[in-house]
Amino acid sequence: MSNTLRKLTRRKSITDLQADYDRDGHIQGTGLVRTLRLKDLVSFGIAAIIGAGIFGTIGNASAAGGPGVALLFIFTAIACGFSALCYAQFASSIPVSGSAYTYAYASFGELVAWIIGWDLLMEYAIGNIAVAISWSDYFTAVLRGVGLGMPEYLTMDYLSATRGYEAAQGMLAKGQAFATLPAGMQQAYTAWQQAPALGSVRLVADLPALGITVLITYLVYIGIRESKRTANLLVLLKLVVLLLVIAVGAFYVDTDNWTPFAPNGFTGILKGVSAVFFAYIGFDAISTTAEECENPQRDLPRAMVFSLIICTVLYVVLALVLTGMVPYGELAVGDPLAFVFSRVNLDFIAGIVAVSAIIAMASVLLVFQYGQPRIWMSMSRDGLLPGAFSRIHPKHKTPYFATIVTGVVVAVPALFMNLTEVTDLTSIGTLFAFVLVCGGILVLDQRQAASAPNRGFRVPYINGKFTLPMVVFAAAALLFIYNGQAVASFFSTEGGWTVFRHKLPLYGFLLVVAVMTVLTFTRNLSLIPVLGLLTNLYLMSELGITNWSRFLAWLALGLVIYFAYGYRNSKLRKSTSVEA
Ligand code: ALA
Repeated sequence: MSNTLRKLTRRKSITDLQADYDRDGHIQGTGLVRTLRLKDLVSFGIAAIIGAGIFGTIGNASAAGGPGVALLFIFTAIACGFSALCYAQFASSIPVSGSAYTYAYASFGELVAWIIGWDLLMEYAIGNIAVAISWSDYFTAVLRGVGLGMPEYLTMDYLSATRGYEAAQGMLAKGQAFATLPAGMQQAYTAWQQAPALGSVRLVADLPALGITVLITYLVYIGIRESKRTANLLVLLKLVVLLLVIAVGAFYVDTDNWTPFAPNGFTGILKGVSAVFFAYIGFDAISTTAEECENPQRDLPRAMVFSLIICTVLYVVLALVLTGMVPYGELAVGDPLAFVFSRVNLDFIAGIVAVSAIIAMASVLLVFQYGQPRIWMSMSRDGLLPGAFSRIHPKHKTPYFATIVTGVVVAVPALFMNLTEVTDLTSIGTLFAFVLVCGGILVLDQRQAASAPNRGFRVPYINGKFTLPMVVFAAAALLFIYNGQAVASFFSTEGGWTVFRHKLPLYGFLLVVAVMTVLTFTRNLSLIPVLGLLTNLYLMSELGITNWSRFLAWLALGLVIYFAYGYRNSKLRKSTSVEA
């Protein structure tokens, strides 16, 4: 192995990890008490999962895909389920609490750990921008409801305002009355028209999104953490409100709205990939509690799978109720769960839903705004980020610098960025982390097969040798039979580079399918991680070339920072305890 390669794959020893964890536990005052049981873990998972996805982004996904989006919720849950099992093995084979970053450092070495840490920034911080924007949508709807409406141009982002304005103008030009335009479009039109202009630029900004991020960051700064009790209460609130929407909404379902089930075909349904996937993000955070669980081997995988199942059932039923209550096209609003009730003149229920959403989403913000600085703190302690990121406040005992940077990184973009764009970025980044985790289990399995047997939970081994080729063959056959035309146009060269470049992510996916099928056949790879890797990669491949370009630029920036700073300042590089 060359010297550089050895440095890039230098791994942290478990003794070092344990020492770091003891120190972190001391600072955060958590200790190492094993108190968490299955129900606590499921509750923790639901606390992180249910948020802007189901309260907000489901609106646009349903508006594009129609009722058929319910199927996407099921497929995505299966992909997440595979990753959940891989996360559980990861968490239970390394006996310290930590994020995927920590596990990767011990298992695969520094470079992969850095990439995952950099990627988690997308999941936590960029994801929180989306939650803040969605929070603002509900908050402003509540304000409007009680007659305290703010000017529209101070409640939305620039892109939504311009796009909505242009779309509305087009429809008005065709003679449609303003009052009959979709609610979201009316708001965008008004925002654009009333916004103060600085030359050709209009001042449109989402002030409430900035405000809530500043508030939550302050709370995290002074050391507020959700106690187990508050977290449980919040979870109860989320479940009750979603069940209320389902129970009351069911009476207003008009089954005619379910036909056609997929009005824009598969293409329409697949437009919702990032929104739907976003709604599941958070179950992976359960794995960070490994050392506080009474029985991590048994409970971690169960908790992840149970919380996924509970959320999937709720999400699928909700998608059907929403698209049954109003024609799917009307759901392109930021607060769909409250909107459907105002639409059927149940303003009181709409109010209850909106207020609960405000509380529920603030709690998701708190969880991730708390988590992000702590990942930075670990990275800084390892020397991969400057020391300031692990500086602890003398009074509040929190990583104050990292907390403030997180606040700025989330608050400022929340003022200007568009919900869909931010959700796309979060989803592609998180999917990539899942792909790495599934791939990581395959590497770990091979390595462990050659050395000591694994302690703790293992992803159930199903030999993929023949099963994977059969699954791939069946999927290809179904595609040819039911959508032969799409397959033909996918492989056609018509349209040249302009068309071809949009197909690149899917071509890349097919290449990986071919490689993985051969590897699985020749090396008897474990089926579940392979399927996890492929299903998550497939979801990534549906996110479009623009997102891929942004994501690759993000990764490249991360690598530049690593080689400019982390590679040279890594503590492992200087220490002697490097595991070969
Ligand atoms: N799944 C979390 C949410 O929807 C990130 O807010």
